[in-house]
Amino acid sequence: MRVGILTGGGDCPGLNAVIRAAVRKGTRVHGDEIVGFLDGYQGVVDQRLMRLDIEALRGKLPIGGTILGTSRYQPFMDEDGVDRFRQGLADQGVDALIVIGGEGTLGAARDLAELGFPVVGVPKTIDNDMGGTEMTFGFQTAVQICTDAIDRLHTTAESHDRVMVVEVMGRHAGHIAVWSGIAGGATVTLIPEEPFDIDSVCEAILRRHESGRFASIVVVAEGAVPAPGTLELAAPEVDMYGHQRLGGIGTTIGGEIERRTGYETRVTILGHIQRGGTPNAFDRVLATRYGVAAIDLVHEGRYGEMVALQSDRITSIPLVEAKRLGLKTVDPQLYDVAQVFFAH
Ligand code: F6P
Repeated sequence: MRVGILTGGGDCPGLNAVIRAAVRKGTRVHGDEIVGFLDGYQGVVDQRLMRLDIEALRGKLPIGGTILGTSRYQPFMDEDGVDRFRQGLADQGVDALIVIGGEGTLGAARDLAELGFPVVGVPKTIDNDMGGTEMTFGFQTAVQICTDAIDRLHTTAESHDRVMVVEVMGRHAGHIAVWSGIAGGATVTLIPEEPFDIDSVCEAILRRHESGRFASIVVVAEGAVPAPGTLELAAPEVDMYGHQRLGGIGTTIGGEIERRTGYETRVTILGHIQRGGTPNAFDRVLATRYGVAAIDLVHEGRYGEMVALQSDRITSIPLVEAKRLGLKTVDPQLYDVAQVFFAH
């Protein structure tokens, strides 16, 4: 078969490991010829692609980002996008397409599969918030990067008796915040799932200082929201694809904490540092398992499905089912664990 691969949406450590695994199994075991479309779906409609063979992927396992480039473009965004997508696959003789992406990219894959296109999905996001799979690659790497940052912030916070606010990614769900908050010993962790009251945050910090321990670490997910009527946040900018550009809530919270408690406060926004660089061992393994499973799904003709991790086994579910399951939010039991340590 001639199989296409594309990566869409935000990049993520482990994308190259997925591509490498699919290429290795596809060429060695199934006898496939594999091509990579550049910059997500844009590369299919514009017919920009590269040949992917074992040589092209040599040395790419530990490299972050994606050798194919990425974009948030989807064929449904243009009037003639789906026709050009069909033409792109036909002109390039592509029999099946592996789409590696998050919510938006796999949403488009689902709609394309419903139109009859031979598409399989691989779920990807450092936020780990996709329904139907227990873990997405890139998440564990991001958690480690945040935990390392929090460890470093502890020592400087203690030296200066300061409050440190650390803003991490997590647009709709606070998985990165809760995991790194627990691992880094945060005083308070704020997540999108649990609207926060800035008064309670300040009370927790004051309580901690009253007990004679001064430095405090507040971890906040970029998508955290104040309880209604408690704090005004500036409206986020929106990019050309209608994607809200988050980032900055940490600065607002840091300012409020300093104003309300009188404790010197500094803010660190980790931003895209969490998404760049080499995937850790866990993410390399998970990405490799997903890549192997994706090319196998193609050969089983299981179009319209995505690979998934369930009970530590690789399986697959229909993309329609993944959509029905929706967003995977933080398990309240895990957040309860984080809360045991709030300001104690
Ligand atoms: O969806 C993953 C993610 O890393 C979010 O946590 C973050 O809000 C977003 O991507 C950032 O996107 P961009 O790179 O387009 O600014």
